[in-house]
Amino acid sequence: HWVVNHKSDVDAADRAISEAARLLRLGETVAFPTETVYGLGADATNSDAVKGIYSAKGRPSDNPLIVHIADRDQMDAFAEEAAEPLQRLMNAFWPGPLTIIVPVRTGALSPLVTAGLNTVGVRIPDHPVAIAVLRAAGCPVAAPSANSSGRPSPTTAEHVSEDLGGLIGGIVDGGATGVGVESTVVEWANGALYVLRPGGVTAEQLREALPDVSVREPARTEEPAGTPRAPGMKYTHYAPRGSMRVVLGDDPQAVAAWMRRELDAAKARGERTGVLTFDERRGLHRADVVVAAGSLAQPDTIARGLYSALRQFDQQHATFILAEGCSEAGIGRAIMNRLLKAAGHEVVRV
Ligand code: TXA
Ligand code: MG
Repeated sequence: HWVVNHKSDVDAADRAISEAARLLRLGETVAFPTETVYGLGADATNSDAVKGIYSAKGRPSDNPLIVHIADRDQMDAFAEEAAEPLQRLMNAFWPGPLTIIVPVRTGALSPLVTAGLNTVGVRIPDHPVAIAVLRAAGCPVAAPSANSSGRPSPTTAEHVSEDLGGLIGGIVDGGATGVGVESTVVEWANGALYVLRPGGVTAEQLREALPDVSVREPARTEEPAGTPRAPGMKYTHYAPRGSMRVVLGDDPQAVAAWMRRELDAAKARGERTGVLTFDERRGLHRADVVVAAGSLAQPDTIARGLYSALRQFDQQHATFILAEGCSEAGIGRAIMNRLLKAAGHEVVRV
C-alpha cells in the first residue's frame, strides 16, 4: 500500500487524491482522513468493492456502513427525501460529524452497505482531504472506521497501517484527525429524534438546533439495554487487548488510592499494569503504563486523544488496565460511551 502525507507538498497531495479516486472507481478499498476518524472507503454502488471493506476489517456483515458524499445533491440518487427535522440538522451540521439515517432507494446502493436494512446512514465529512477524494471519485463512498473490527478507531494514518497494512488498496495520509471520536448517528422516528450513537455533535447541540423536538438519547451507556437500534453498537468495540475496567468516583484522591491498591495487587500477580487518566490527574497514578488522554478542562482534547491513548496500552503490552471516567456533559457523552464499550461495560464505583 502507499501512504502520502497530504501536508508535505501540494503536488504529492494532488497525486494521492487522484490515485485514491482512481482506485475507488476501480472497486478497491482506500483509507482517508475525515474530521472524526480515518475511514476505509469503497464505491457504495459496487458490491465487490464493499465486500473488500468487510473482509479487510473482519467486520460482521450485519453491521451497516455509513455512506459519505461531498455534496447534498448526491443523496437524491440513493436516498428518499429526509424528514424536515433531519433537513434542519443537515443545514446546521453538514459538513460535520453527524450521520443521518434515511430511507434508501431500492437498488441504488450495494445491499451490503445497508446490511439488509431499508435505511442508509449518510454524512458529508468536514475535512478537505475527504471532500477532495469524494469529489474526485464521483461516487457515494461507503466508509466505516479504518480499523480492524473491535480495535480502537484510527486517528492517524499509522493506526490504519497498523491494522490494515497490506489488506487495502492504499491510505491517504492527512495527519491526525481533529474530533477524534466518530460521528453522531441520528434517526427520525415516531415524531422524535433518536440518537443511535453519541459522537462529535453533542445532544446539547442537537437540542439547540431543534428546540421544538424531543431528542432521545440511549439509556446511560453503563447500563446497555435491549437490542440497540444502530446494529454496530452491540459489538465489543474500541478495546485494547488487555483487560480494562472503568473506575468512577467523585473524589479523585479516593479513586487514585483505590486504583493503586488494585494495580499493586495485579502487579504482584505478574500483570503489566496500565492507567488511563487525564492531564490534571497524571501525578496521582503509578503503573507500568500511565497515559493521559487529554485535559479535563478541555474535554475536546480527551475526545481527540482517546483512541490513540487506548492503542498505547497495546503498544506497551499492558495486560491489566484501569481507566478513570469523565463528565458526560457535551462531548463527554461520546467519550464515556467509547470508554465503557472498550471496557466491556466493566465499571467500578469508588
Ligand atoms: O465518524 C464516522 O462516522 C466514521 C467516519 C469514517 O465517517 N465512520 C464510522 O463508521 O464510524 P462505522 O461503520 O464504524 O460506524 C457506523 C455506525 C454503526 O454503529 C452502524 O451500526 C450505524 O452507524 N449505522 C449505519 N447504517 C445504519 C442504519 N441504516 N441504521 C442504523 N444504524 C446504522
Ligand atoms: Mg467503527
